[in-house]
Amino acid sequence: MHTNKIDHIGIAVKNAQERLKFYETFLGLQVSEIEELPDRGLRVYLIKVGDTRIELLEPMNDNSEVSGFLEKKGEGIHHIAFNVSEINEAVKLARENGIQPLSEEPKLGAGNTRVLFLHPKTTGGVLVELVEGGH
Ligand code: CO
Repeated sequence: MHTNKIDHIGIAVKNAQERLKFYETFLGLQVSEIEELPDRGLRVYLIKVGDTRIELLEPMNDNSEVSGFLEKKGEGIHHIAFNVSEINEAVKLARENGIQPLSEEPKLGAGNTRVLFLHPKTTGGVLVELVEGGH
């Protein structure tokens, strides 16, 4: 597995339209895409920042992937995603190194990617997402 760059930073928000005032008006960034991932309960706003992205993660319902996080911690940084080559190796490599993947296999992610999350208890407190493919 080879790590290429920070693919994106995922930020949990309650109301993206409200938060976009900061990213668009103050930082002068633009939303390049809005993607709905119903199986994960998420509406994702992709904001390009140079060679990487911010992803605003807005819940579509109370069972979304960020609902628990928002309830416990409130809005804020949810995960950091690294773009990697050969994600299939990641599950095996993680287990060999005492790092716990959150799923048995990589899953389909936004923008035609394959993703795998790693448990924050095994990465020093950071929810890490590995991403293969994409932009
Ligand atoms: Co992500």
